[in-house]
Amino acid sequence: MGGAGPPTAGRRDDGTCKGIGARHPAQAAMTKQPTLTLNDGNVIPQFGLGVWQVPNSRAAQVVSHAISTGYRLIDTAAIYENESGTGSGIAQKSVPREELFITTKLWNSEHRDAPRAFLDSLNRLKLDYLDLYLIHWPKPRQNAYAEAWKALVKLKAEGLVKSVGVSNFTVPHLKRIIDETGVVPSVNQIELHPRFQQNELVAFHAEHGIVTESWSPLGQGTLFDDTYLKQLASKYGKTVAQVVIRWHLDRGFVVIPKSVRPARIDENFGVFDFELDKEDIAEISSLDSSDGRIGPNPDTADF
Ligand SMILES: NC(=O)c1ccc[n+]([C@@H]2O[C@H](COP(=O)([O-])OP(=O)(O)OC[C@H]3O[C@@H](n4cnc5c(N)ncnc54)[C@H](OP(=O)(O)O)[C@@H]3O)[C@@H](O)[C@H]2O)c1
Repeated sequence: MGGAGPPTAGRRDDGTCKGIGARHPAQAAMTKQPTLTLNDGNVIPQFGLGVWQVPNSRAAQVVSHAISTGYRLIDTAAIYENESGTGSGIAQKSVPREELFITTKLWNSEHRDAPRAFLDSLNRLKLDYLDLYLIHWPKPRQNAYAEAWKALVKLKAEGLVKSVGVSNFTVPHLKRIIDETGVVPSVNQIELHPRFQQNELVAFHAEHGIVTESWSPLGQGTLFDDTYLKQLASKYGKTVAQVVIRWHLDRGFVVIPKSVRPARIDENFGVFDFELDKEDIAEISSLDSSDGRIGPNPDTADF
């Protein structure tokens, strides 16, 4: 299981123009949402809803609205304290379970107790399996992330989670867990937006068949005043959020914008009827900045 993965891992597979091969059932059900094939053969929708900072009391409503809109991937975490509301939102909808792709994450204090933490999350989500379980942060000072990775690999072998991966891992963290287990994570979820693109890490992912998932893909709302992005939005007849989400899709990343507002949840979904010109993708990519990081640095984060 896992292993280095076939060379096709992470290939684009949107069923519309560039892809061939497996399709996520959600596509057949409703829209031309692109998917990627992970290095373990499972298929991940390339677009979904992030629910960090969604209060548990609103999570059911937000998640069920997103699923009605057509979202099929939901990204939560134990530390978000909204797994139970997220699970209620999923349960409210009659979409077949196999059409959904549910991700949650192991919190830092649980690196040495991953199997129990996993079952707690599964119970709160009211699910009998998970699509993707991630180690949320490496927290290197604790020096337990390799042990946690071994536990996740075992959980996958036991069948309660389909795919396993990591989040906020740098190249040295990735090399260590690959060296110690021979199992390459299917996904690394990292801070990634036009002003902070982590190109070296993304290149390492591509080399090793790891799918890049962008967190804070809209820069937590900090990109909306950018003059160039506003010009591009008017060129395509789209909003800045839609242009930025499309850039993530066109770069081959999984993208999980968060909103609690139904109108924005719908707006962010309006990205499957256009593609950016090559020059515009390159121009957005040129907004990258070495000091563009918004969130914590994984090497030093110690929470
Ligand atoms: N693994 C990690 O360590 C990690 C860290 C951070 C985030 N994440 C994941 O990534 C997801 C997304 O990241 P994020 O929540 O930090 O930031 P984000 O998605 O980049 O931005 C969310 C912010 O943008 C606003 N927004 C969303 N759509 C908009 C639109 N169309 N127009 C104007 N404003 C809009 C939201 O406000 P409203 O809600 O008020 O609409 C919210 O303030 C999270 O929810 C979480 O699942 C993971």
